[in-house]
Amino acid sequence: MNSQRLYLDHNATSVLSERVDLKAMPMANPSSVHASGKLARRKMNEVRDFLYSTYSLKENEFDLFFHSGATEGINTVVKGMAFAATREKKTMTFFTLGSDHSCVANQEGFLKLLGHDFKILPVLKSGLLHEDEAIKEIKACQSEVILINWTWVNNETGVVQELSALEKLKERCLGQEVFFHVDAVQAAGKIEQWRELSSQADAYTFSGHKFGALKGSGFTFLRSKLNHCPLLNGGGQQGAKRSGTENTWGILSLKMALEDLKENYQFKAQQEAKEWFEARLKEELGDKGEIIAEDSPRNGQTIYFLFHEVAAQSAAMVFDMAGIDLSNGSACSSGAVVPSRALLAMGYNEDQAKSALRLSFSWKFNLEEAQRVWEHFSAPLKRLLS
Ligand SMILES: Cc1ncc(COP(=O)(O)O)c(C=O)c1O
Repeated sequence: MNSQRLYLDHNATSVLSERVDLKAMPMANPSSVHASGKLARRKMNEVRDFLYSTYSLKENEFDLFFHSGATEGINTVVKGMAFAATREKKTMTFFTLGSDHSCVANQEGFLKLLGHDFKILPVLKSGLLHEDEAIKEIKACQSEVILINWTWVNNETGVVQELSALEKLKERCLGQEVFFHVDAVQAAGKIEQWRELSSQADAYTFSGHKFGALKGSGFTFLRSKLNHCPLLNGGGQQGAKRSGTENTWGILSLKMALEDLKENYQFKAQQEAKEWFEARLKEELGDKGEIIAEDSPRNGQTIYFLFHEVAAQSAAMVFDMAGIDLSNGSACSSGAVVPSRALLAMGYNEDQAKSALRLSFSWKFNLEEAQRVWEHFSAPLKRLLS
């Protein structure tokens, strides 16, 4: 919260960690051979070591490359695998969930251009994958390369799809080799197990600005043995996985922000605060609205709810005028009202999918903060419901 606005949109972008210190960052190009360049490279390598150890992954099993954020990371994984399949004259199918982020969902056109396939797996009302139906579709798939996107924590609903499910899914797809990419963007600072990756996944993508690092920074772990072509070709930086001068400031900020999280994140306090807030919201909504995916496994800081009789756009305007920043799940980047894809995938109708609002709190959210937020939030809410 700053003096003018109450910011409740941390799933869109979170506040910069206080640990991010631009003065502590070397400015030279890490490819330069002079001492300043070498210092920048050394600092960048420290971040690499830190990430491998933070996520308990082995350097001989996973490559790590930095990029500008998850949109680039995910495009690199999907398109890179598609190019590699094309090179080997193989066909590929990319499976996603209807509730996945648009940077996952919007791969269809490109994949089809290369003669590959794109399929959407069914989602239950709970926001979780409809596993039985999904297995049927995957088993019926004739492609030689199968890539499945697994969104760990959904950005709209906060629904958590446990990584432990991957092993079972792989077992059930016996006979078919499937690769998993985990969209881990909304995990750090939002779930207790944010560092506990699964050995079953083949790629993980993260975005810095979601957990307190600088915008324009992110990273992907990619299983080394995976057939993959780089998306960006050029000077061969980062082992040619992602050419282009590295964004050293962004990269260094990843470590600073994650160190802060590692030391200070208190999931239980965050979750308790969210539950306190959500109970009040639910009581106030009564039969005029509902909490989405209320009984599903959810993260510690996202509340997605809908009004039965108020359009989210008008509600968002009321909150905006009251100084509160929150997300209208049905707004697209141009601001136009489109139904939320996540809600449509979960079986809500178009009107409902245009009536949801998302509150997402910071990783430092606690009971005291929840009470303070409620004081400001409840007045416009009551006006909307009256
Ligand atoms: C789950 C998820 N995946 C991918 C992205 C894309 O991240 P970025 O906008 O940082 O590229 C987002 C951003 O909101 C997200 O929430």
